[in-house]
Amino acid sequence: PALEKDFLPLYYGWFLSKRSSENLRKTGQAFLDELASIKVFKKESNKHFGGAIEDPKMKLDLTSYFVKRPPGVLHCTTKFTDFGKAPGSEDYAQQEAVKSSYGKAFFLTISALFITPRTAGARVELSEQQLLLWPGDVDVLPPAGNLPKGSRAHVTLGCASGIEAVQTGLDLLEFVKLEKAGNKGEEVGEIGGGKLLSYGNGMWMIVLSKKIEVRAVFGGYYG
Ligand code: 2AM
Repeated sequence: PALEKDFLPLYYGWFLSKRSSENLRKTGQAFLDELASIKVFKKESNKHFGGAIEDPKMKLDLTSYFVKRPPGVLHCTTKFTDFGKAPGSEDYAQQEAVKSSYGKAFFLTISALFITPRTAGARVELSEQQLLLWPGDVDVLPPAGNLPKGSRAHVTLGCASGIEAVQTGLDLLEFVKLEKAGNKGEEVGEIGGGKLLSYGNGMWMIVLSKKIEVRAVFGGYYG
């Protein structure tokens, strides 16, 4: 007899396979290295990344800038339930799609990589089926309000010192907000895997010419 309520995880999400996780980390790493060596980026980086690079030939080390990297395998959070304390947790956990997908394998599509002065992440493009697992209350960026369902879907690759992981999703929503307002980013060239866009204020995105598919298992993280 269940006298107690189900114990909810810290968060639900898709957990990348070890191999996909390693590959995505490598791709993210290559993106940071390449970005750091680009002239237009270097010109801007002083202002936004506190690089204080006097010598323009010097390269900003973005890897050490995004010093807080997720331990273990990478993941894409769906719902942060905070062990049941977060609003909407019980409702989410009770959903049929959530219960039936628990422990199931998926392919997630990565469509872009982005950085801001706070975070580095990968943008996830969710399928119709995957959107069934996406909570209805997370694509909100005050004061802009609601953005399209799934807008926030991402994998955190790194955070600057003193920044919490929750920021990566908010930063991605900021990009989406700008896109919605008609700012599609300034195309500053082609790098490695795609088109490099600058949105100003130290916000950069590379839209991958070839989307990356990663393997992931849906589940809960209990800490
Ligand atoms: P992330 O999904 O951007 O990586 C544990 O802290 C995980 O839950 C992190 O991966 C983190 O961000 C996510 N997280 C933490 N606090 C959150 C919040 N308030 N809302 C949504 N996700 C959160």
